[in-house]
Amino acid sequence: MTSQPETFITSEEIGRVVARLASEIRRDYQGKQPLLIGILKGSFVFMADLIRQLGLPVEVDFVKLSSYGAARETSGKVRVVQPLDTPIKGRDVLVVEDIVDTGITVSFLLGYLRKKEPASLKLCSLTDKPCRRRVPVRIDYLGFTLPDKFVVGYGLDWDQKFRYLPNLCFLEE
Ligand code: IMP
Ligand code: MG
Repeated sequence: MTSQPETFITSEEIGRVVARLASEIRRDYQGKQPLLIGILKGSFVFMADLIRQLGLPVEVDFVKLSSYGAARETSGKVRVVQPLDTPIKGRDVLVVEDIVDTGITVSFLLGYLRKKEPASLKLCSLTDKPCRRRVPVRIDYLGFTLPDKFVVGYGLDWDQKFRYLPNLCFLEE
């Protein structure tokens, strides 16, 4: 039984934080043409807002990794379901993620990308749940630190539901 999502970060607050992240990234990538790689599906809303605030000539690609299905916990096994279209050797790559939870998904992806020899590789995540971490992850650009609660909205789902909500919401058990 799942209750209704309850707003805890409004779209206005998200907008301010996305603008702050964009200005940090703009400062660090001056004169470069970074490739932003989003992890599908959760990051697509954040990616869309971020690139329009950046003011940099970025390119965008997406990878799809194996998902949770209807579970709220990672299975611990990550697979690439839809690979990159873009060669990344020698590129400045910035991974864009919606949430780092156990860290298993993003640390798998960073390892996978590092083997392709990008010039640089960094991580931007809208949200982080550090109390849930099982593998260490360095987040170079972070929006919000969250408590140990399940979050939906602004692209984040529970079993494919609630991605369309403009606010970040807690989903109570
Ligand atoms: P991790 O491998 O445990 O770090 O999980 C990362 C992925 O799990 C994210 O990209 C999300 O797709 C999903 N995820 C983890 N926590 C949440 C949550 O609170 N709400 C929605 N999705 C989540
Ligand atoms: Mg995700």
